[in-house]
Amino acid sequence: MALLAVLAALVCATLAATGAAGVRVELTRIHSGVTASQFVRDALRRDTHRHNARQLAASGSGAATVSAPTRKNSPGGGEYLMTLAIGTPPLSYPAIADTGSDLIWTQCAPCGTQCFKQPAPLYNPASSTTFGVLPCDSSLSICAAALAGAAPPPGCACMYNQTYGTGWTAGVQGSETFTFGAAAADQARVPGIAFGCSNASSDDWNGSAGLVGLGRGALSLVSQLGAGRFSYCLTPFQDTNSTSTLLLGPSAALNGTGVRSTPFVASPAKAPMSTYYYLNLTGISLGTTALPISPNAFSLNADGTGGLIIDSGTTITSLVNAAYQQVRAAVKSLVTLPAIDGSDSTGLDLCFALPSPTSAPPAMPSMTLHFDGADMVLPAESYMISGSGVWCLAMRNQVDGAMSTLGNYQQQNMQILYDVRKETLSFAPAKCSKL
Ligand SMILES: *[C@@H]1O[C@H](CO)[C@@H](O)[C@H](O)[C@H]1NC(C)=O
Ligand SMILES: *[C@@H]1O[C@H](CO)[C@@H](O)[C@H](O)[C@H]1NC(C)=O
Ligand SMILES: *[C@@H]1O[C@H](CO)[C@@H](O)[C@H](O)[C@H]1NC(C)=O
Ligand SMILES: *[C@@H]1O[C@H](CO)[C@@H](O)[C@H](O)[C@H]1NC(C)=O
Ligand SMILES: *[C@@H]1O[C@H](CO)[C@@H](O)[C@H](O)[C@H]1NC(C)=O
Ligand SMILES: *[C@@H]1O[C@H](CO)[C@@H](O)[C@H](O)[C@H]1NC(C)=O
Repeated sequence: MALLAVLAALVCATLAATGAAGVRVELTRIHSGVTASQFVRDALRRDTHRHNARQLAASGSGAATVSAPTRKNSPGGGEYLMTLAIGTPPLSYPAIADTGSDLIWTQCAPCGTQCFKQPAPLYNPASSTTFGVLPCDSSLSICAAALAGAAPPPGCACMYNQTYGTGWTAGVQGSETFTFGAAAADQARVPGIAFGCSNASSDDWNGSAGLVGLGRGALSLVSQLGAGRFSYCLTPFQDTNSTSTLLLGPSAALNGTGVRSTPFVASPAKAPMSTYYYLNLTGISLGTTALPISPNAFSLNADGTGGLIIDSGTTITSLVNAAYQQVRAAVKSLVTLPAIDGSDSTGLDLCFALPSPTSAPPAMPSMTLHFDGADMVLPAESYMISGSGVWCLAMRNQVDGAMSTLGNYQQQNMQILYDVRKETLSFAPAKCSKL
């Protein structure tokens, strides 16, 4: 997901302090009773949240791998949720795992009518012995610009409003002890994590109780833990029961055969672009046919526009128009079913009518994304989506000059390692469901 803007303002409040370390998480996809088309529409709606986040002063050290239980439970949602716990005593909650933003936030009591309904008890900072307001002169405060170098007033804290494409969340920056790990043996408590204590949000986060930013910025969980690397394995999109593990720290690794690695590309631009994990995509094939796409189609421009990022918080992959049209035409040329424009019903423009709602879709060859030094092979189930008798290309057109995004639908059933120290992304096909 992505932010459009972060507004920050200074407020006066009571204070407390902070610290940090490494993590591990359980991922669960839980589906509700929504139809596939509604599902895709909701996912698309959320995809318009292209973010912004502020690049902050570096902070955090620590080395151990830490663990936190994670799960997904959003009605009609297209997000993967990690479960972690906040405060003392620890209160467990699910949050969207988002490599496309930095802020870690959850809803805080009291928030009256401005909070969305969440699937876990509401965290109340007053009931936790480890909550503190983050001082607005902290290196992790997003009010640095508001202070403009001036000494903060006593008791100064930072109020934020992060605006996503279709949603927002607002509150005060706090500091807390977080607990990671499902089993007692795995559990690790990490004090002093800066987070957003939201007391007002839009209604776009159903199924979660907040979000965990895993981007490159100083506020992300990865940075605050000094994790160096993290990995996840997204369970099959339609599998609502299984869990997999997200790891942050030295134990996040990718071993075995079939592992491919490609370097991240550094953005020449400042935040929010500097938060994203850009990849160098040089071509796309369908089956054995290389599509006529310019090798520069996904290049990052000197002003930071363009490029392609990998994002766990976006559902459907978006491709710059020139590339999307080639993929669309190639898929269409291989399918003999009647093509329909699914824009209204599914939000996806290339769909096919299946003979009946229960018909299995025809076989399709794999699609290969040719990254610099690493081919990523997507089976048909990772680029086509079916439901309610329609079968659609699960990709969309990026026409507004914004970056292209490799979404989580295309990442299912792959073990993926982000090595932020070595600046590489590694991946291998995997069965992510543990039953
Ligand atoms: C989110 O919750 C609100 C209010 O509870 C509801 O109206 C809305 O339909 C829900 N959205 C999704 C996608 O479930
Ligand atoms: C949220 O907290 C801020 C800071 O304490 C306060 O100014 C604001 O009124 C609160 N908003 C709601 C909806 O409670
Ligand atoms: C946050 O920003 C959004 C978008 O500008 C706005 O709709 C919302 O009311 C703001 N929320 C608060 C609490 O200021
Ligand atoms: C998922 O879990 C539910 C409830 O435990 C069960 O009814 C359903 O059969 C499970 N589905 C799969 C695919 O295992
Ligand atoms: C996997 O790789 C990591 C680091 O590269 C190493 O520490 C670990 O022992 C390896 N695990 C297996 C099962 O080979
Ligand atoms: C992208 O990869 C191509 C092919 O390996 C290489 O020639 C090019 O220099 C790379 N671009 C960047 C920005 O790394």
